[in-house]
Formats: sequence, structure tokens, C-alpha cells
Amino acid sequence: MTSATANSDTGQRKASPRIDPDSAPLSMQNVTKFFAPSTTALDDVSFAVEESSFTVLLGLSGSGKSTLLRLVNGLHLPTSGRVQVLGRDISATKGGALRSLRRDIGMVFQQFHLVGSMTALENVCAGALGSLRGPRFGLISYPKSVRQSALEQLERVGLADQRFQRADTLSGGQQQRVAVARALVQRPRILLADEPVASLDPESADQIMTLISQIAKEDKLTVLCTLHQVNLAMEWGDRIIGLRQGQLVLDELTANLTTEETMEIYASVSGAGR
Ligand SMILES: Nc1ncnc2c1ncn2[C@@H]1O[C@H](COP(=O)(O)OP(=O)(O)OP(=O)(O)O)[C@@H](O)[C@H]1O
Ligand SMILES: [Mg+2]
Repeated sequence: MTSATANSDTGQRKASPRIDPDSAPLSMQNVTKFFAPSTTALDDVSFAVEESSFTVLLGLSGSGKSTLLRLVNGLHLPTSGRVQVLGRDISATKGGALRSLRRDIGMVFQQFHLVGSMTALENVCAGALGSLRGPRFGLISYPKSVRQSALEQLERVGLADQRFQRADTLSGGQQQRVAVARALVQRPRILLADEPVASLDPESADQIMTLISQIAKEDKLTVLCTLHQVNLAMEWGDRIIGLRQGQLVLDELTANLTTEETMEIYASVSGAGR
């Protein structure tokens, strides 16, 4: 996407639910992210989410969803504006404070990102590396407390029996369960999920969404999840944020939205050729 001003003629801009950005676990205020030479991936985006809420990010490919998630865990810094996570301004958080903040943020990705040659249990243990010093080789090199906690998380996702199975021999749905367990092993407060079901068949996708939603409720996680399917967003999200060409074009509680209104996020943008 280029820095050309997005046309929002076709999409209604909904009023954002009023949440104080300073007390919200996650907020953005007038955030713009520019990538040289000419891409404005996010354009003056502001929102704040409530604690323990499940927010779904929707938008066409290239609308800025993954960039927004990367800004939340500090992998990108905003070009301008303020990203606030668990009371900290991400641009001003560095070194040990940033590492500590990242331990509060679990991540799940479309492609699972497991190490195929390692067992399910080792992959989950690796989720604790952020709080351990030095590299680890093999299960035995992790402290017992980590192994125990990893096994507990594997039990929660229904894969305790497969704990010694190599990750690359598990089905896609099972691999994503392992990835969810890995994200949980550090007991995060925020869970970022970037298209967690895009590589799965509909049944596995539904199982993973059910699992993430159940665990989020149990652990009171604040979830920000990108999806491509409006039906899943309507089913699982408490709230939907829609991006188009980097601009926030929808921010509303799902209960106040119809599917048709949500679909307007995808309305064609004049001059953008899609
Ligand atoms: N590191 C980067 N350097 C340069 N441009 C980038 C970078 N990361 C993202 N972009 C650009 O920013 C825009 C938004 O990309 P982003 O990956 O956030 O979109 P997305 O909504 O996640 O898309 P998809 O649904 O395909 O995953 C795109 O134009 C992309 O090419
Ligand atoms: Mg993406």
C-alpha cells in the first residue's frame, strides 16, 4: 500500500467504544507507521481495548494488521503516536524492561513456527526461553519447574499424550495447539494471534478458536487476533477493529454489528485496484 490517502467514502467510520487509553492494557494513540520509501502501513490509528477482552482485527491483505501486532510487542516502533502496553509506552521501554514486557505477551502465528525436529514438550518449554539465561539443548536442560509448567499447558490443549512426539509429525491443528501451549507457558497477560487458523481446515480452525477463547477466559487474557474470515470474527470477537489501507475504519462491539456492516471493511477502495 502506498502513502496515498485512503478513501473512506465507501465505509462508515464507527465511533470507538470509550475506554481510557491510559488504564487500558493495550492502546494506540494517533499511531502512524511508515516504511521507507513510500508505505504508510498504519495511518493515524487510535483505539484502546478493555482488559480480558477478545478483539479481532480484520482487513484486506496489506491493510496493516500484522504491522499493528508487531507494534504491540515492540518488534516495530511507531513513526509517530503512542503505543501503550500494560501501562508502558513501548517507544520508551528498552532493555530488561522490554524483555519483561514481552514475557507478558504471548504470540501465536499462522505458520505455527515450531521446531519440527523437537518434541511437542520441548517446543512448549522453548516458550520459557525469554525468562531463562543461555541456550538450552534437550528437555533435560530446562528447569523442572519449566518442564512441569509446559506439561500442564500441553494438558490444557489436549496433547499430553503426544508430548514426546516430534512436532513435524503432528497434524496442523495439533501443531497449532502446541504453539498455543508454548505461548501460554510464560503465563502472559496479553495474547497476540496473527491469523492463527489461516492454515487450517474449517473443523480444526473452529477447534483452535474454541481453545483460544476458552483459555483466554480462564486466564483473563486480553486477546488481539487477526483473522480473514468475517464469520469467525463475529463468532469469537467481543469487538471488531477494521483496517483499510492502514486506516482504522471500524471499531465496534460485535454485539452492535451486523455481518453486512462488518463486510464494509472490505468495500472497494477507489484507485486502489482491489
Ligand atoms: N518490514 C517492512 N518493510 C517494508 N514494508 C513493510 C514491512 N512490513 C510490512 N510492510 C508493508 O506494510 C503494509 C502492511 O503490511 P502488513 O503485513 O501489516 O499487512 P497485513 O494486513 O498483515 O496483510 P496480510 O493479511 O497479507 O497478512 C504492506 O504494504 C506491507 O508491504
Ligand atoms: Mg499479516
